[in-house]
Amino acid sequence: MAIIIVRNNGPYRVHGPIVLQDHQGNEIPLPGEVFTLCRCGHSKTKPFCDGTHKVIGFSDVNPEPPPPAP
Ligand code: FES
Repeated sequence: MAIIIVRNNGPYRVHGPIVLQDHQGNEIPLPGEVFTLCRCGHSKTKPFCDGTHKVIGFSDVNPEPPPPAP
């Protein structure tokens, strides 16, 4: 079973056997059974995290409150 952990102010940490595909269904080779996926959008090695989130000060705190439910 794969486990995906949302890191505080960081990437998605993935544990376990999975298949990762690009938008065309091509398999993306994994660096191992434990790796991180970029959540900040600034990695130079997308879809993997390269640590840039630390440099840019990525925060997963949304300063805006969510819109009211309709
Ligand atoms: S989350 Fe680490 S580089 Fe984007």
